[in-house]
Amino acid sequence: MKSPSLSTTAYAGASNGESSERPPFLRMRGLCKSFGHVTALSEVDLDLREGQVVALCGDNGAGKSTLVSMLSGVIEPDDGTIEVDGQPTYMTSPLRAQELGIATVYQNLALVEQRDVAANMFLGQEPVRLGVIVDRARMVDEATRVIQRLRVGLPSVRTLVGDLSGGQRQAVAVARAMLRGSRMLLMDEPTAALGVRESRRVIELIQEVRSEGQAVVVISHNMEDVFDVADRIVVFRLGRKIADEERAGLQREDLVSLLVHGCRSEEAGER
Ligand SMILES: Nc1ncnc2c1ncn2[C@@H]1O[C@H](COP(=O)(O)OP(=O)(O)O)[C@@H](O)[C@H]1O
Ligand SMILES: [Mg+2]
Repeated sequence: MKSPSLSTTAYAGASNGESSERPPFLRMRGLCKSFGHVTALSEVDLDLREGQVVALCGDNGAGKSTLVSMLSGVIEPDDGTIEVDGQPTYMTSPLRAQELGIATVYQNLALVEQRDVAANMFLGQEPVRLGVIVDRARMVDEATRVIQRLRVGLPSVRTLVGDLSGGQRQAVAVARAMLRGSRMLLMDEPTAALGVRESRRVIELIQEVRSEGQAVVVISHNMEDVFDVADRIVVFRLGRKIADEERAGLQREDLVSLLVHGCRSEEAGER
């Protein structure tokens, strides 16, 4: 576990009643993003902490993917601030986000079917020896270690990705993110294309990543998945954050009502 002994007074921005702990891994304030006349995100505040899974929910077009793209350095906000460990940060490129320990598993996973698991995990970052030779033995070794750590049911890191199931591919993409030593994992609809059993495995994988102390952000349309895995549930509607609750503080019917009506069930009932 990380030492909690950091001074709490040293951080700017600790004045809004959150001063008792060290700053979250990532703190967003007032984030805005428009595409032409479409407002994708409006004045979004969000804190993401290590060891916590946050589910982003909301109808299509609510702004969830835009937020993830911002955190992974793919698009820049028009306005607002992002702090990492309490320090103002500019997520100017995917490489910058990666340097900060932010790894993204996109919906298409970006894997090469004709290559094996180990090769995919090191794609573009192959270790070399003697300056030029790809160190295949080290790749197999390290890939195996990460796969075992994540308790992923893969036959071998020498299996071609093209021969894997959807859930196994998702696991390879997560393992690749872990290999890069990330502190935060972003997943956009990781179970959307999977069956029930495979989705279950991905949920277990997310739990494993959380138990290693990473922050996890997962976008999902699946209520069961959300209530299974999230510590916190954040709801977006038309680019605005309309709810940000501990899972225990939110009933299923409230989430449904927030998604459909933009307010909680009792409020919807009063209308
Ligand atoms: N690259 C883009 N160009 C133009 N409009 C975009 C772009 N990305 C997202 N949008 C728009 O921004 C809004 C939010 O989209 P998005 O973040 O993808 O929502 P979600 O992931 O919640 O479905 C939508 O109205 C969408 O059409
Ligand atoms: Mg989306």
